[in-house]
Amino acid sequence: MKYRVLHYGEPELRIPCEPITEITEEIKQLVEDMFETMYEAKGVGLAGPQVGKNIRLVVIDIGDDPIVMINPEIIKKSGKETCLEGCLSFPGLSEKVERALKVTAEYTDLDGDTYEIEAEGLLARAIQHELDHLDGIVFVDRISKARKIQIKNELEAIKNGETLYDEEDEDEDIE
Ligand code: NI
Repeated sequence: MKYRVLHYGEPELRIPCEPITEITEEIKQLVEDMFETMYEAKGVGLAGPQVGKNIRLVVIDIGDDPIVMINPEIIKKSGKETCLEGCLSFPGLSEKVERALKVTAEYTDLDGDTYEIEAEGLLARAIQHELDHLDGIVFVDRISKARKIQIKNELEAIKNGETLYDEEDEDEDIE
């Protein structure tokens, strides 16, 4: 089942998420549905709150391998890189965001096994972007105040449910 992706302005995106204590059949179904939703929207990552589920769950696929992250934590960060980023909760908007170039993250997968992943570049960016969602943080929180004022009208339009431009023309880096 495909979910509706919540847009900027919807309060659920701002709620810090609860840890997952048990991997139930509902969670497994939700993961399947989140991948379906993400692929359909041509995103590379999707977090629980974006489909109205305030739990610490993220799905990512930057094109090589689908990753399910339950209760993920970033345990190491290094370097800096500024790249254009988008978000399925901000249709049509891309902004430059500075992030760590490399991250190490710890998470549990759907089988309950614990993993550590070392990532850099796009995958590191996707992990940082999606984990922010779990704390109620969205990517425009990470751009300068001056830039946020410049794109005030675009942000207002997204809040009002308008699409900024034809999504088919987009080539976004991050979900
Ligand atoms: Ni996002």
